[in-house]
Amino acid sequence: MAGETIKETVQAKYGEAALRVVRGQGSSCCGDPIRSNLYDSAQTAHLPEQALRASLGCGNPTALAELHPGEVVLDLGSGGGIDVLLSAQRVGPQGKAYGLDMTDAMLALARENQRRAGVANVEFLKGDIERIPLPDASVDVIISNCVINLAADKRTVLAEAFRVLKPGGRFAVSDVVVRGEIPAELRRSMELWVGCVAGALEEKEFETLLAANGFEEIEIVFDATSAADHLRHAPVFERLGKIAVDLTPAKIGILAVPAVNLDEALGHRNVNMITCGGQASIPIAWALGQTHADIDYIEVVSSIASRSAGPATRRNLDEYIHTTETGIQRFSGCRRAKAILNLNPAEPCINMQTTVLAKVAKPDVEKFSAFLREVAAQIRRYVPGYEVIVGPLLENGRIVTMVRVRGLGDYLPAYAGNLDIINCAALAMA
Ligand SMILES: C[S@@+](CC[C@H](N)C(=O)[O-])C[C@H]1O[C@@H](n2cnc3c(N)ncnc32)[C@H](O)[C@@H]1O
Repeated sequence: MAGETIKETVQAKYGEAALRVVRGQGSSCCGDPIRSNLYDSAQTAHLPEQALRASLGCGNPTALAELHPGEVVLDLGSGGGIDVLLSAQRVGPQGKAYGLDMTDAMLALARENQRRAGVANVEFLKGDIERIPLPDASVDVIISNCVINLAADKRTVLAEAFRVLKPGGRFAVSDVVVRGEIPAELRRSMELWVGCVAGALEEKEFETLLAANGFEEIEIVFDATSAADHLRHAPVFERLGKIAVDLTPAKIGILAVPAVNLDEALGHRNVNMITCGGQASIPIAWALGQTHADIDYIEVVSSIASRSAGPATRRNLDEYIHTTETGIQRFSGCRRAKAILNLNPAEPCINMQTTVLAKVAKPDVEKFSAFLREVAAQIRRYVPGYEVIVGPLLENGRIVTMVRVRGLGDYLPAYAGNLDIINCAALAMA
């Protein structure tokens, strides 16, 4: 598709979006489910309401980027300015945050948001991210939120980003990437292009383009292949100095559940996200361990929609069981653990459900419930659809708890909560 046509259409679409925000209507471009819960309310408490409503990104790059006082930050495609204003707070009065956007109405909105926020260390520049109006080596950190997918010439955008970054500068991007090819007819759809889908790069293509333009330092690698593959990949990542966040049940790294042992896992270079059933059940097992001195047995039964179980899950059923059981024992201190996984082929597809049954010496359901409420609230920070739907209750001398996990339904169907919980846990860890 011709670059100029793309730019004109993108400009028209985001110009309308800016005007909708000014009129007090919703801003809708990338799809609301992607954009919900991106920012911590504590982080955005000091921002004007209009800046929040104008947020059109698909992530929170300021959460990914380490920003230090005194640094210069540039946001490519800054829209209503939310990430620029957040960055300005973090670099402080000695630092500076630039926003670059080509759409006049967006720039006007961003400048109004700056005025309302009362911040001086911000400047919104008009221009194209394919020709950044800043000198070479003038920026410490580049951020971008759901914009590069809109550019017709992504190679030029990355080359420009590399040019303006200082040596050793950092690049933190939230964007839509796809796994596999986008069919040619979707690529040609202007509507899907401005909706952030048709212009998205294939994941590997993005990495290749980054490397080709000088961005060699990919620090964290997410491995979602299979347990056997991760055993081969891990020494390679180690040799290359990469941090591995392992979404397979290979269990060679530290077992990690963000709601339980985020701090402990942070110092490790190979972090194992256990399994989807483990992410759903281990916080419950951990809460049992924190409230009971003597746990004889924990049994975990997870049911997931068969359609949500990909080829790697199917090849790793034994590893799934062993790794989940190891995690339950490690985090609860129970003597024996059993994990069961049901792949349910029912249509319509079922939501992920996990039941935890525990045989404990002196059950204290009340204390456990209070603990569980807190840990469930922690999990909902990265998986909003995590919900205790039964119990905890005492039944035949066992404590029974059941949770349901629904996904956001953004990239994957909402019933695939099993995929959301492990992916979101991995992102929370990164
Ligand atoms: C999806 S919105 C994201 C806005 C902002 N980053 C946020 O998170 O709310 C895309 C923004 O990128 C801008 N944009 C798209 N292509 C651009 C280009 N080639 N040069 C400059 N700005 C561009 C649009 O005008 C729009 O404001």
